[in-house]
Amino acid sequence: MKVLVIGGGGREHAIVDALARSPRVGKIYCAPGNAGIARQAECVAIRETEVEKLRDFAALRGVGLTIVGPEAALAAGVADAFRAAGLRIFGPTKAAARIESSKEFAKKLMVKYGIPTAAYETFADYAEALAYVGSRPLPVVLKYDGLAAGKGVVVARTLSEAEAALRDMLLDDRFGRGKVVVEEFLTGPEFSFMCFVSGRKVFPMVLAQDHKRAFDGDEGPNTGGMGAYSPLPFITKEDEAYALERIMQRAADAMVDEGCPFTGVLYGGLMKTPDGIKVIEFNARFGDPETEVVLPRMKTDLAEVCCAVADGRDVRIEWDDRAALGIVLASKGYPGAYEKGWEIAGLDEVAGAVYHMGTKADGERILTAGGRVLFVVGRGATLAEARRRALASVGKIGCGNLFHRSDIGHYVFDKEEK
Ligand code: AMP
Ligand code: GLY
Repeated sequence: MKVLVIGGGGREHAIVDALARSPRVGKIYCAPGNAGIARQAECVAIRETEVEKLRDFAALRGVGLTIVGPEAALAAGVADAFRAAGLRIFGPTKAAARIESSKEFAKKLMVKYGIPTAAYETFADYAEALAYVGSRPLPVVLKYDGLAAGKGVVVARTLSEAEAALRDMLLDDRFGRGKVVVEEFLTGPEFSFMCFVSGRKVFPMVLAQDHKRAFDGDEGPNTGGMGAYSPLPFITKEDEAYALERIMQRAADAMVDEGCPFTGVLYGGLMKTPDGIKVIEFNARFGDPETEVVLPRMKTDLAEVCCAVADGRDVRIEWDDRAALGIVLASKGYPGAYEKGWEIAGLDEVAGAVYHMGTKADGERILTAGGRVLFVVGRGATLAEARRRALASVGKIGCGNLFHRSDIGHYVFDKEEK
């Protein structure tokens, strides 16, 4: 079978890597891909939002399965276009992807179907939003209602911070004309629960935790994610069963009942609060960088699972007990301004342990080409061993313009040391 993967980051490299292990997959295309992906797949110069070009490519080449990585492709309606053309695609329709693309849609769904989440109100008017925030305890969480590339969420600790954020979102239309969801501030460890979903059928993946802040000790600005690991010893079997039944299964059922059944990966960004597990956000796709530590633990053939989910068939998924821990190497300055085009050395020494997030080939040389550049994974019987291996691999990579966090997994390791 020929498979097309849409996207060109670390998540897509992990998907391509999993497909490369599949005996059912003959040819892998990736649009647009990157320099690392190019070693395992044929990269195709089509952007992720060029829906018609992607559809025509898949039809022309006889692609039997297309897997969508990025949310922008889903929000552009790529799954709708493929389905209308009778092409098999793994990913939700535009209507179902609203669970990620519209915060208000997601919040209303959760309230209507009794899925635990932070209390909230939605506002389109700046003065009303500000008056409401003034009547609530601080900190308060402000979320722009739309896709804002991870920059649409502000945890305001003071009234003046809240005022500035509301002005950005509602008066200056920094992300476009939109609304703001004002949410109660929750506390507790966050974790990511990804499930393969096909209508009412839900097949859970193993859990992972992302690290959103740029620097060690969870300092600095929010990023797309600086590292991840799996499994999570602080989430019990009971927690997991609760999250599966009361959150993920309910959400899948709710989408069917709302007339927009979900097909693809439903990602629960969850928090273990003192009042139980609650939803911070849903995403309509594989998480990045969680996918880079979860798929290496999947023993079942990814192509088989995605075909079954797209066709509405049952699957049994088996997982490897061994831990995975991965560290992002990012360009200095990220998530702010950064330079591109720095040469990366040592990649051959860590082959098999690196996913490319933002790289470009220049002849034989590999250059940095994004904010997040590489994702280095360590495996081991324990998380501590996985971390040692990941750090050892990071040490072999030479580049003058990359930085990384050295405390990935600290939530687990700090506890063990106490
Ligand atoms: P989101 O884009 O909704 O995942 O939000 C980005 C980050 O903001 C999350 O990973 C949390 O760390 C934080 N956050 C979002 N909502 C809340 C909330 N209600 N309470 C506390 N922190 C939150
Ligand atoms: N790791 C968070 C996300 O994929 O949105």
